Amino acid sequence: PTISRHDYRPYPYRLPEVALQFDLDAAQTRVRSRLVFERVGDENQPLVLNGQDLDLESLALDGQALNASQYQLQDEMLTVFPKTARFTLEITSLCRPAQNSSLMGLYVSGDKLFTQCEAEGFRRITWFPDRPDVMSRYQVTLRADKERYPLLLSNGNRLQAGDLPDGRHQAVWEDPHPKPCYLFALVAGDFACREQTLRTRSGRDALLQIYSDRGSENKTQWALDCLVRSVQWDEQRFGLELDLDRFMVVAARDFNMGAMENKGLNVFNSAYVLADKDSATDPAYRAIEAVIGHEYFHNWTGNRVTCRDWFQLSLKEGLTVFRDQEFSADMLAQDLSGAEAASARAVKRIDDVSTLRIAQFPEDAGPMAHPIRPESYQEIGNFYTATVYEKGAEVIRMQHTILGEAGFRAGMDEYFRRHDGAAVTCDDFVSAMESVYVQQNPGKNLDVFRRWYSQAGTPRVKVELAYDAARKTCAVTLSQHCEPVGIEKLQSPALPKPPLHIPFALGLLDQQGRPLAIEHGGRALDTVLLELVDERQTWEFPNIPEKPVPSLLRDFSAPVIVEFERQDAELTLLAQHDPDPYARWEAVQELATRQLLALVRAFTDGGEPVVHPGLADTWRGLLRDPGLSAAYKTRILSQPTEKELLEKTSPMNPAAVVQAGRHLRGQLGQALAPLWLETYHACADDAEQYRPDPLSSGRRSLRNLCLHYLMAAAHPEAQALAAAQYYGAGNMTDRMGGLSALVHFSAGAPSQEALNHFYEQWQQDPLVIDKWFALQAGAPGTTVETVRALMLHPAFSLRNPNRARSLIFQFCMNNLQGVHTPQGYEFWAEQVMALDELNPEIAARLARAFDNWARFAAPNRDAMHDALQRIQRHPALSRNVAEIISKALKIQ
Ligand code: ARG
Ligand code: ZN
Repeated sequence: PTISRHDYRPYPYRLPEVALQFDLDAAQTRVRSRLVFERVGDENQPLVLNGQDLDLESLALDGQALNASQYQLQDEMLTVFPKTARFTLEITSLCRPAQNSSLMGLYVSGDKLFTQCEAEGFRRITWFPDRPDVMSRYQVTLRADKERYPLLLSNGNRLQAGDLPDGRHQAVWEDPHPKPCYLFALVAGDFACREQTLRTRSGRDALLQIYSDRGSENKTQWALDCLVRSVQWDEQRFGLELDLDRFMVVAARDFNMGAMENKGLNVFNSAYVLADKDSATDPAYRAIEAVIGHEYFHNWTGNRVTCRDWFQLSLKEGLTVFRDQEFSADMLAQDLSGAEAASARAVKRIDDVSTLRIAQFPEDAGPMAHPIRPESYQEIGNFYTATVYEKGAEVIRMQHTILGEAGFRAGMDEYFRRHDGAAVTCDDFVSAMESVYVQQNPGKNLDVFRRWYSQAGTPRVKVELAYDAARKTCAVTLSQHCEPVGIEKLQSPALPKPPLHIPFALGLLDQQGRPLAIEHGGRALDTVLLELVDERQTWEFPNIPEKPVPSLLRDFSAPVIVEFERQDAELTLLAQHDPDPYARWEAVQELATRQLLALVRAFTDGGEPVVHPGLADTWRGLLRDPGLSAAYKTRILSQPTEKELLEKTSPMNPAAVVQAGRHLRGQLGQALAPLWLETYHACADDAEQYRPDPLSSGRRSLRNLCLHYLMAAAHPEAQALAAAQYYGAGNMTDRMGGLSALVHFSAGAPSQEALNHFYEQWQQDPLVIDKWFALQAGAPGTTVETVRALMLHPAFSLRNPNRARSLIFQFCMNNLQGVHTPQGYEFWAEQVMALDELNPEIAARLARAFDNWARFAAPNRDAMHDALQRIQRHPALSRNVAEIISKALKIQ
């Protein structure tokens, strides 16, 4: 059944108080709930509660037990018929954590118990109005065997703890903040804890705690440091203070996503908590910082102000991703100033834009295309997407760009002033921002901007530039257009897509690459922000002395595709001189993309694969440029990914894309070999001094890039360097860099020996073994047979999402060469079906691997279609997978 955004109706009851009592046990947990409901209107309405995989033991209304004729129990709904405006419902039910492999609701991980309730997991714990607009105060009593579960945690403050007969004990928790049930959590088990108190800005002391498996406590210092920085950053940048006496983060080995912002009791995938120099890479440290920040920032944007319904998911996710991106950027730029700080921030921006383009642009062009506020869904778990998260963050960022930092902050203050403690909509957020916008722009509003929330698809902005040499003026014309996507393609005639409000940042350079001042709005600026609100608009700039070279969409000021015809020479000029580090990177990416597409054509048609010598010259200049940081050089000198390139071929040709990438890497490796080697040595650090700071991690990333190119060029020293780096590494970043170079470029003995050595060394650390599987799954020579063999390895399990992702997902979604074969597609279909029996949410993610199957050439397309149909014919598909597969088959 499809649920539509417009079908929202308020819940007819309030539920101010919730009391829950758990008798925790892995096999069978008994939950007693006591719910006091208050009718909202004047009329008696049936009370409908959600429940899933529960046994109902007893039900009582105002103390009177109800028999089966006094309630209805069907289709995962429990309906009772109250006669009064206020009444108490008491429910006793059973659930089975050990049998719950979905990892939603109450489940077992290792020897511990965890919950995951967002979006609709609470209904697997007890019968309840499982929707975010019902907010209650919770009192929770946890009882369990004391030896097995010495620690019993839930949201809020611990009121009481004590022993019970028969080796059991209990703890009573109370959360003073009303919350929807998706923010409920409990955790039970034996944990190590690292903690610190922090004085918040109003002078309150808060206890910050990181819980992890015993034996992992030496890997939680970084996460705790990140949490401290998150608390301080939210105070400084947004004036938002921690509202709790105690803020807990607990690491779980089995977890579907990254982490969860349960009030005061965040539960994390252990991959985003545990780090030390010997087991975590630099990017892993950065990811921990981002996720710790993200979940902490949810405390205000998500928990204090939450979503009215799940169509509003981007209200909290888009906003919180924007906040975590800004946090990460500020942390990178922390000790720097001026151009160095700007370049450090740009590195984060480049990474975020790459993610958006690799994950979200294809989604927005495929069968699952949806606006950041979806109009309908079959399964909400399928809408935790790059569109809701990453494009949602871009839509918030555009509001920040339009209003400016101070204006955006004023809008946020207004948002909390209006909505603190409430469950609201995306439109409420824009209205708060609009209250600032109308002050800044009398007579204007954000009506056109709001369309970003209801329109799917990536808009294209066409740029035309007309220079008038006689008048010394430059006219810039922007026009926008957005193709029908997803379900819109089934409508004929196509519905019109009205224009959006697009902030477009523009700079102009002269023919020597010097910035030109642009007169706009009474000021002379290096960068102007053009606000495109119509289909087509022209701006004219006076006093431009010569025909300029435009620098377009600086800092990626809107999530759009720019269309502008220009020669390679202009791109080369921008690659050398654009003062906007984002646009400079973009120019280099465009040059490399053009070259790669020419190679793809050559490999497809059997032409000569020619690499333009100018490209190597540009790269040499960048590699030598003393003004660029190592981290930035790594980005600007990395080739566009195979996936991005594949999107630009038509029909999609994975084999030629892989070949083109390899060819260019080899050629650039050879052309710049002495410089790669020199840079490789220049980037060496004292390994004992490891810190995950931006400067030294930038050097490590550049050094690994150099090694990569040297290996690709089959440089005579490369293999020995890689082996020496691997065996002599003093941290995991260097170690993985060496191993990855060996595995990617030197098939055979050296690579297998290093892989065996690595496994021997790290077999006790599951997060490191994930990397070991992932490296092999993504390697060029890996085939379906290799993956099947790895699945038989004793360390492999489909039940652990991190492990499934590291092998199955990595192969099916990232190894273009390995998976795009008839056997690859068959293997994929098999794994989707196998995973679906265990964990529908994870299975549905894998099911999306070939969303764009119809854009491939015939043999691949037909084989993918067969695989999709095989899944569709499977008798017991989950709602999650069924939605994905039916859309993939129907919408192309
Ligand atoms: N709210 C979490 C976050 O973004 C994600 C939880 C999603 N859970 C799920 N089962 N889909 O931080
Ligand atoms: Zn989130």
